[in-house]
Amino acid sequence: MPMKVTVIGLGYLGATHSVAMSKLGHQVIGIEQNPEKLAELQAGRAGFFEPGLDQALKEELASGRLSFQSNHNADSAEAEIHFLCVGTPQTEGSLAADTSYLYSAITDLAPLLKPGSVVVGKSTVPVGTAKALTEKLSNLTGFEAELAWNPEFLREGTALGDSLRPDRLVIGVNSALAEAKLREVFEPMIASGVPLIVTDLATAELVKGAANAFLATKISFINAMAEIAEVSGADASQLAIAIGYDERIGNKFLRNGVGFGGGCLPKDIRALMARAEELGVGEAVAYLKEIDKINLRRRIRVIDLLKAELGELSGKKVLVLGAAFKPDSDDVRDSPALDIALLANQAGANVLVHDPIALAGVNKKHPELATETDLHQAFDNADAVVLATEWQEYRDLDPKLIADKVNRKFIIDGRNVLDNSLWQTAGFKVVSLGKG
Ligand code: UGA
Repeated sequence: MPMKVTVIGLGYLGATHSVAMSKLGHQVIGIEQNPEKLAELQAGRAGFFEPGLDQALKEELASGRLSFQSNHNADSAEAEIHFLCVGTPQTEGSLAADTSYLYSAITDLAPLLKPGSVVVGKSTVPVGTAKALTEKLSNLTGFEAELAWNPEFLREGTALGDSLRPDRLVIGVNSALAEAKLREVFEPMIASGVPLIVTDLATAELVKGAANAFLATKISFINAMAEIAEVSGADASQLAIAIGYDERIGNKFLRNGVGFGGGCLPKDIRALMARAEELGVGEAVAYLKEIDKINLRRRIRVIDLLKAELGELSGKKVLVLGAAFKPDSDDVRDSPALDIALLANQAGANVLVHDPIALAGVNKKHPELATETDLHQAFDNADAVVLATEWQEYRDLDPKLIADKVNRKFIIDGRNVLDNSLWQTAGFKVVSLGKG
């Protein structure tokens, strides 16, 4: 049965979730207080690059099931479920997540909330947040508020598909009513065989942090092996294939290179450390400090390799291929590629950054970095090239066409995606991270 729902906060998570809920047939009211973002959404644009999302957004708007507004009104107050999708960024000067947007969201919602409506948090939060929000909401409303937690596991680049066909649905609930409403809203997904885990609030919150910590650990594990491989003559990519055949280990998320970035993995492992510390069990996840350090060390490694080849970087032209934290995304938050460009720039190099779609974000955040939109022109007179984000067009490059353009035929493959023999045949010296 179609339900009326609101989605509060329309960033990556909320914009995608509102489209997904509408696609399931529900009546969805998206609430976004930022006027520019709201205008974009009303015009059928998510405001960030996500394959297929704008198209789906336009279709859902046209269906009449999806609409966006700046605040709650009598219409949104009728919703049976209110999804909280606001951001929980890293707090300035601390490792902890900033949950203040969640508190403002429930403060705005409380005067309109009806007994029996369920508030469902989807944002990534420190364990214990849902309990505290429930108490706050009950105080604000004067009745026992129904609050549940339903973490989201979407990946940028495949966001809508991940939302509609996740590996699993996790719902943390305090009451039979909340469970029934969530089973109803996700009914088409459950019917199609998506596994459902019904649990308590704390477990549901922790699942998300734990999953991202595990993924980050896998990446830093293979990058730690890469450090050993580099000094011992081994090859970390082959190592990953070999250990990955063991099904207990698995072959996914073992790609070594410049490491993980983005708006989630780095912030989430830090938030987990901060929360564990608050709970008096900091030692349980103290190892995540090393995971973070291994990850950041990969970026320094690239600068060291540049220096080893070029000597002083001052006056040398370094072309960085990629700015987004991963391909098929224009997100430059905590991006290894962007960080490498900044580090090389600080070391005195004349850095030029190319990215197929993420340069607007670079120009806005870091006007000190020069950028180039034409890939072939970018190579002109380069003393070194760093492949930092594995966009398909970099994999498809023909080194023969580039060889005459560069000053020095030197490339660092930070993502292990190039055919080294092809580049070597064209005269390039190729250094692949994780290879001795
Ligand atoms: C991540 C998780 O994968 C999602 O499950 C989760 O829902 C999301 O965070 C979130 O918390 O919202 P995402 O940030 O989109 O998704 O990106 P990933 O695909 O996980 O990649 C993260 C980073 O790890 C990228 O910089 C990528 O290049 C890097 N990576 C990934 C590696 O360096 N090696 C690998 O083997 C895999």
